[in-house]
Amino acid sequence: MDSSAGGNENSPPSLDLEKLREDSDGSMSGMATNLFQQVVQGNPYFAAGGGLMVLGSGLALARSGIIRLSGLLYRQLLVDMEIPSKDKSYLWFLEWMAKHPQRSSRHLSVETNFIQHDNGSVSTKFSLVPGPGNHLIRYKGAFMLIKRERSGKMLDMTSGAPFETVTLTTLYRDRLLFRDLLSDAKNLAVKAKDGKTVVFTSWGSEWRPFGQPKAKRLLPSVILDKGIKDGIIHDVNEFLQNGKWYLDRGIPYRRGYLLYGPPGSGKTSFIQALAGDLDYNICIMNLSEANLTDDRLNHLMNNIPERSILLLEDIDAAFNKRTQTGDQGYQSGVTFSGLLNALDGVASSEETITFMTTNHPERLDPAIMRPGRIDYKVFVGNATPYQIGRMFMKFYPGEDKYCEEFVKKASALNVSISTAQLQGLFVFNKDDPESSLRMVETLKSPNHVF
Ligand SMILES: Nc1ncnc2c1ncn2[C@@H]1O[C@H](COP(=O)(O)OP(=O)(O)OP(=O)(O)O)[C@@H](O)[C@H]1O
Ligand SMILES: [Mg+2]
Repeated sequence: MDSSAGGNENSPPSLDLEKLREDSDGSMSGMATNLFQQVVQGNPYFAAGGGLMVLGSGLALARSGIIRLSGLLYRQLLVDMEIPSKDKSYLWFLEWMAKHPQRSSRHLSVETNFIQHDNGSVSTKFSLVPGPGNHLIRYKGAFMLIKRERSGKMLDMTSGAPFETVTLTTLYRDRLLFRDLLSDAKNLAVKAKDGKTVVFTSWGSEWRPFGQPKAKRLLPSVILDKGIKDGIIHDVNEFLQNGKWYLDRGIPYRRGYLLYGPPGSGKTSFIQALAGDLDYNICIMNLSEANLTDDRLNHLMNNIPERSILLLEDIDAAFNKRTQTGDQGYQSGVTFSGLLNALDGVASSEETITFMTTNHPERLDPAIMRPGRIDYKVFVGNATPYQIGRMFMKFYPGEDKYCEEFVKKASALNVSISTAQLQGLFVFNKDDPESSLRMVETLKSPNHVF
């Protein structure tokens, strides 16, 4: 077997050293050049490999060129808009999508809302919002690709829900439609709560709407003693109109109100009606809640949704001495200093209206009465003859004669009557003023069950 170089047909040809030396005039660089030429020209494998290499790099270049070109075209022709789940318009957008007629999507998520009516019945509404994945819609003649993505690993620490984003892509020339779309989505959401008050309650360390927006309670439906309502309303309006005054003087733009008095006198009802009247939402927090801590209170009070009244119920709970509860150690709850710190710390560029209620003003520490914490304090007491008369007329309009008699009899009982008690009696005797008059004695016992 001939194993010498060049002897085999398949083996590369051997190098001609003599020729190399002659052609190169004896210099080293010349020899190297010639050696290279001989190898490249005479070696078919090398030549084929080289060809492939050139082809490969050509293709790679072309590929990266195409990628760059498509990137360029993408940037020039398409626009993206990203809405993270933390943003307010995120839920508005999903709701809007659920109602959008021209959509093609096969991935849907269900969002169930149920409403419990006063009579106990429940009506349920399912909205099919676009689920994670891609969706194509047509909006005002433009196509939009909608991509809803869920980040599997990242969790929103406040709610424990996975982070999500929705990305909308459309042609560059249609970019201005994004604005229209967002304002359509917002208007739809606003319309849904038009004439209603959203009640927020604390959920962990964030505020969440409690049920569906509620129909506004009208201010005239809450009957307080003469002058009380007007006094508060006047003060709140003056506060709201003087933002610049506070800002110019570097004073935190907040005002605290305390309504104190016996149970069932209309404190909570009035604050809810006031929120409705001002077109504000309301954030309700009960300080007697066992698992509320100073930290949570502070965080929540500093993160109230915009245009909301903060309502702290039963603030005397913060003034209870901490008691040891056996094995569980110290009872959790808000401390006095925690409440003061939270009240002092509320610093937002927007106005902050805080209402506080208590049935036990005597338990409050005088430190809370400092201006800036509580600026306006008012007693909301049991029903006065004036209130009894007004309540009667609210339930039985036009029945002046019965009203006069009822007020006389109720006052003659010589007991404290709460407005909630009166409401109970009048609701029991719907459209029957005579019967209410007959049953006036029941007002003697505050816990009478009809
Ligand atoms: N002054 C009032 N005018 C009209 N309705 C009232 C009035 N006071 C009480 N009510 C009715 O009584 C019920 C209880 O009232 P509300 O919860 O406002 O009392 P409250 O003063 O907040 O009591 P608590 O101190 O126990 O929280 C409500 O249904 C409300 O409609
Ligand atoms: Mg109340």
